[in-house]
Amino acid sequence: MRIVVFSAKPYDRQFIDQANRAAGCPHQISYHDVRLDAHSAVIANGAEAICAFVNDEVARPALTVLHSGGTQLVCLRSAGFNNVDLAAAEELGMAIARVPAYSPHAVAEHTIALLLSLVRQIHRAYARVREGNFALDGLLGFDLAGRKVGVIGTGQIGLIVARILAGFGCEILGFDPVHDPRFPGRYTGFGELLDQADIITLHCPLNPRTHHLIDEAAIARMKPGVTIINTSRGAVIDTRAIVAALKSRKIGLLGLDVYEEEDDIFFEDLSSQPIMDDVFARLLTFPNVLITGHQGFFTADALQAIAETTIANVTAFESTGVPLHAVDLPQGKGA
Ligand code: NAI
Repeated sequence: MRIVVFSAKPYDRQFIDQANRAAGCPHQISYHDVRLDAHSAVIANGAEAICAFVNDEVARPALTVLHSGGTQLVCLRSAGFNNVDLAAAEELGMAIARVPAYSPHAVAEHTIALLLSLVRQIHRAYARVREGNFALDGLLGFDLAGRKVGVIGTGQIGLIVARILAGFGCEILGFDPVHDPRFPGRYTGFGELLDQADIITLHCPLNPRTHHLIDEAAIARMKPGVTIINTSRGAVIDTRAIVAALKSRKIGLLGLDVYEEEDDIFFEDLSSQPIMDDVFARLLTFPNVLITGHQGFFTADALQAIAETTIANVTAFESTGVPLHAVDLPQGKGA
């Protein structure tokens, strides 16, 4: 099949070409750095499949243009599919595929990296030591052992985070509508978790129920000096409420790999330009905030798995009309 890859970076090309070669080169693939939207969708004219990433706009206007150009399959190089208009895809008779599990370890380990860096002030110590400043003032940390960690969303990634932190000697609390018997902690209600946790880590999907789950009211219930880590999706947090809570010192430490308006910022080198997003620019001023640009998934192991599953999704669709890992469409036609 002909596949047009949007938001393609050199590393995407490397891993997807490698996976296609390993499968015997069944597909003709072209790569475009541009993000998918209603305007750029024309690039895919004549391609049966397109491949999109987390900040591509797989909304109705883009899907309509893709459909009129002959595209039947949208392959996401991600597990999350909050950027896709599923009802529109169903109406147009298009299939949506995703990569449900490429490496939950990659994201879970990045979560722990953010947490440890913040708790021991590694991000500040790194800069200090390079300037010959070996003073310890301002770098005081705290032990993780014995602290209460609230895990919101105990699916693939949340479960691994919980296991790692249980190994550190933390007391683990979990909130998830689905209870996993393997979870190494105690399930609580949402409110109890907010009341009790010293550290809160977010691993739920973004959907209408989790949009701004962490808002002003939720923050008000948290312990003073709470640590929050978000490697799920930016809009699970109300960023303006978070900024206010950082200013009032209610939040002690904040680690983010995602941001609700990240589409215009992440995955690009903007180092020669002013930051136009004032809320994001404000976040960057806090010494107790550590931000990475949606790199939780970014390990060689995960990229290889994403590429292999993407090729397998297209190959299965070509032979059966259904991708290997279809996203369920509203009326269940996604298989
Ligand atoms: P998963 O589907 O295995 O687990 C999600 C869990 O959240 C499920 O157990 C589900 O029951 C639970 N959940 C649903 N609604 C909830 C609610 N209202 N409150 C609490 N829990 C709720 O997903 P997985 O693979 O563990 O991914 C988790 C998140 O990580 C997703 O948001 C995904 O988009 C994000 N992610 C981020 C990456 C990064 O690079 N930073 C890479 C991959 C995923």
